Amino acid sequence: MTQLPAAQTAQHKPQDGSKALYGGKSTRRITVRDIALAKERGEKWPMLTAYDAMTASVFDEAGIPVILVGDSAGNCHLGYDTTVPVTLDEMTMLSAAVVRGTGRSLVVGDLPFGSYQEGPVQALRSATRLVKEAGVQAVKLEGGERSYEQIRLLVESGIPVMAHIGLTPQSVNAMGYRVQGRGEEAAQQLLRDAKAVQDAGAFAVVLELVPAELAAEVTRTLHIPTVGIGAGAATDAQVLVWTDMLGLTQGRVPKFVKQYADLRQVMGDAVKAFAEDVVGGEFPAAEHAVN
Ligand code: KIV
Repeated sequence: MTQLPAAQTAQHKPQDGSKALYGGKSTRRITVRDIALAKERGEKWPMLTAYDAMTASVFDEAGIPVILVGDSAGNCHLGYDTTVPVTLDEMTMLSAAVVRGTGRSLVVGDLPFGSYQEGPVQALRSATRLVKEAGVQAVKLEGGERSYEQIRLLVESGIPVMAHIGLTPQSVNAMGYRVQGRGEEAAQQLLRDAKAVQDAGAFAVVLELVPAELAAEVTRTLHIPTVGIGAGAATDAQVLVWTDMLGLTQGRVPKFVKQYADLRQVMGDAVKAFAEDVVGGEFPAAEHAVN
């Protein structure tokens, strides 16, 4: 019997790109099954954060397959210094807006600090709010082995979970913002964390600020996709905080960010032009008036 090429076997979908997470032809909403198939095809995909309907609609139209309503909203949207003060009420409101602004992207809602650390039952109650009230298709929570039971109960209850290991910003008061997984012992712990979240049933795992070689090893070891941020080029997906990558963040951004636009400059210049037009009597002009 003729041997089919790997690309046409049961595990591998045809490589014509029509099913690709980014640039594919499907117009329906992306599912966690699509994400799993992308890993089988060895396909890389982009993920961005968003915190409001309008921004999310731009990313959805641009074909970003997964949008994370990150608790980075704390620093990037709500004016807090860290993600720690963000509440479940705030995440529910922001997540609902992002869901309303999207039609194709899979929306993942972040469980904020204090909404799942007490245990699986608290995690289920919090995740249920994000799924029922906001309409997200999946939730994200931080922690590896320590969050095993929470992930397991959510997955058993029908809620897809994206895990998050390495640097976990909700623990900033305990760990600071430092590279994680450096040294043999820390690297072994990161691998154990990665396997634990996979065993618990997570559909993907964020690796934040870990050495590139270690992220590559985790990516090779796991059958679920890894989503890197400051974790090198080998991960299955890459995520950036949108205000960092589009140049809206005030002050310093992390070294791993690539800035694709300077919206702070663009917006500032436009706002000044408007102000000068108003002060100089040039706006509104005749065509802006209603007769
Ligand atoms: O909250 C967030 O935006 C995140 C990403 C940095 C992964 O957790």
